[in-house]
Amino acid sequence: MAFGTETVYGLGADACNGEAVAGIYQAKGRPSFNPLICHFSAAELAFRYVDPTDMAELLAAKFWPGPLTLVLPRAEDCAVSRLVGAGLPTLAVRVPGHALALALLEAFGGPVAAPSANRSGHISPTKLEHVLEDLDGRIGAVLESGVCPVGVESTVLDLSGSTPVLLRPGGVSVEDLEAEIGPIQRGATPGAALASPGLLASHYAPGLPVRLNAEHIEEGEALLAFGAPLAGARTYFQLSSRRDVIEAAANLFEGLHELDAKAETLGLSGIAVQPIPELGLGLAINDRLKRAAAPRG
Ligand code: TXA
Ligand code: MG
Repeated sequence: MAFGTETVYGLGADACNGEAVAGIYQAKGRPSFNPLICHFSAAELAFRYVDPTDMAELLAAKFWPGPLTLVLPRAEDCAVSRLVGAGLPTLAVRVPGHALALALLEAFGGPVAAPSANRSGHISPTKLEHVLEDLDGRIGAVLESGVCPVGVESTVLDLSGSTPVLLRPGGVSVEDLEAEIGPIQRGATPGAALASPGLLASHYAPGLPVRLNAEHIEEGEALLAFGAPLAGARTYFQLSSRRDVIEAAANLFEGLHELDAKAETLGLSGIAVQPIPELGLGLAINDRLKRAAAPRG
């Protein structure tokens, strides 16, 4: 369901439910998986799902609730679907400064993944009518939340590395952030390549080579199955036995992680992927898999 925040309307789903998260991409018509922000009702709750640094604690105390998103390492026992972070080892978290959004998040009690509530490639919605123009008939509900007072998306700050990096300028100025924590590296200017980490080289790719549209299994290969697994596959991860692209999208990154984690103990040589139709979320799944299969630099 869509709901207003102080920045823009978001399209929210239970972040721990992979199929619900896949439904977000489906509704937005996103041709690829970009990592999504997890929304929480309070910092204490957010910091159960990521490992906060001292800087994160300080900025949260100063700017939350508010238009600031912090990228931090996933906590070891993080229950958020891997699809939310598009397979990255980090998670973007924020506590929105909007009374109704906070009430919704508190009533729900867990993390809510929410990108802006617009069709892919369209501009972000700042009022109910914008959401309906773009998504009416494609989503469950919209919470009437008035006009978003900030009107631009949250500032995204990556605190997962040795120095803080600005990934997206937004509702909190970089000057205000630097007044609290010192110099911040400018990672992105609006519209620059870094604004879409989905396209970054550092984006999660499995250690094992990936082979697409596999019709047979080669020696040592594990299988990412879609439908009945190929004959001879000894190790496989099932994306969707009923060949449902939404279910497969929900399981994609979990599957890549799981097979990768088994590489050493099982002496795996690669991951073969069964053909996935270029329909609906199949497009986004294949986009991600093509990147994973591309020659490494
Ligand atoms: O104001 C906002 O942030 C709105 C409202 C709904 O909260 N949400 C929003 O979400 O703008 P979205 O999906 O349109 O943008 C999320 C941004 C993207 O630039 C994405 O690449 C970045 O956050 N992001 C999310 N997770 C990340 C991660 N683990 N590492 C790096 N960047 C991440
Ligand atoms: Mg957006």
